[in-house]
Amino acid sequence: MERVILVGFMGCGKSTLGRKLASKLNVAFIDSDSDIEKRYQQSIGELFTRYGESHFREIERQFIEPLYDETAFVLATGGGMPCFGQNMEMLNELGTTFYLERSPKELVHRLVQSKTKRPLLAGLSEDELLSYVENKLAEREPYYHLADFTLGRDEQNAETIQKILHHLSPLQKS
Ligand code: S3P
Repeated sequence: MERVILVGFMGCGKSTLGRKLASKLNVAFIDSDSDIEKRYQQSIGELFTRYGESHFREIERQFIEPLYDETAFVLATGGGMPCFGQNMEMLNELGTTFYLERSPKELVHRLVQSKTKRPLLAGLSEDELLSYVENKLAEREPYYHLADFTLGRDEQNAETIQKILHHLSPLQKS
């Protein structure tokens, strides 16, 4: 059974890496943000604006449980998902978790391109973005560090994928 879960800050590359990894493992790729958007027929930004962040966090919490019925997938989680309630414990129970670690500077570099898609970052200047990322990351890292493995710092995706495959082969959580 291959359930692989990627956690990490916004912009760390969970979706891009997850899609490639799923194709290598020949399993389904699940992106929690895209699935939630499809299910509710609204963008994450609209969900935040209409119903507020706490409602979105409840949607994320409910997203995890049905995944216990699936046997094999790569899941790219939204950056905040592991950091609320018991979500990180549930994700760890569900499968093998990997924290894709990036420095605040690297995250900012990646995020300036895609800020508008992310309601928590809307309206921040580049300078404000760096201090936001530093603070938020410090708040969230204790959760991310509960992952089974931490990878990605100063690595290209191909290298990270090889390491994930290496960690997975002897594990096979069931
Ligand atoms: C969020 C991260 C986003 C998305 C939402 C909130 C967060 O996902 O779930 O905008 O709280 O970090 P990505 O990590 O895919 O950007």
